Amino acid sequence: MNPQAAALVRASWSQVEPIAPAAAALFYRHLLADAPELRALFRGDLQQQGDKLMRMLGWLVARLDDLPTLLPALADLGRRHADYGVQASHYDRVGAALLRTLAEGLGAQFAPATERAWTDTYQVIADTMIAAATDKAATLMRRPAGAARKRDLPGASVRRRRLARHRGACRWIS
Ligand code: HEM
Repeated sequence: MNPQAAALVRASWSQVEPIAPAAAALFYRHLLADAPELRALFRGDLQQQGDKLMRMLGWLVARLDDLPTLLPALADLGRRHADYGVQASHYDRVGAALLRTLAEGLGAQFAPATERAWTDTYQVIADTMIAAATDKAATLMRRPAGAARKRDLPGASVRRRRLARHRGACRWIS
């Protein structure tokens, strides 16, 4: 992450934090006006969800210079989002709503360099979350149905030997 961009994002976020509840409400208003089909994904209370989103963004923004902490946290967040039904194409809608919220919330302080810094930062966040969700989906596709195949469970080789002995002795099993 470019240190100048990280500094711009941090400085602008410190101006959003005091108005976080209003910014979150504005963000969801923009997001759901632009993409009403996403409403069904949010099962809980949107005000609480907005609080979680703002706190998570604050946590991420404070760690933009600490990639060893940031990247695994983003990967976990991306995998959880796959479970919420979030798809890769939704990230652009969320990014657009976030940038619009920042532009309206910060007004003239959302200078072009700050806007570029946020655009780049959001892209890193979204790409990392999407990559983790995609890896998770690929792993699940490779795995047979069920958490583990019965023949992989402990004791399976013993059960296989017993069955083979039984087969030899039993006229009903060929
Ligand atoms: C910057 C990117 C994002 C951040 C920081 C973020 C943050 C969060 C956080 C902190 C939660 C609370 C649950 C948890 O921690 O797992 C959450 C839940 C959720 N997020 Fe995100 N999110 C992002 C992107 C998205 C996108 C692109 C969507 C697509 C619509 C989305 C939809 C949801 C949904 C549906 C939930 C679950 C809500 C529920 O169960 O009611 N998020 N998000």
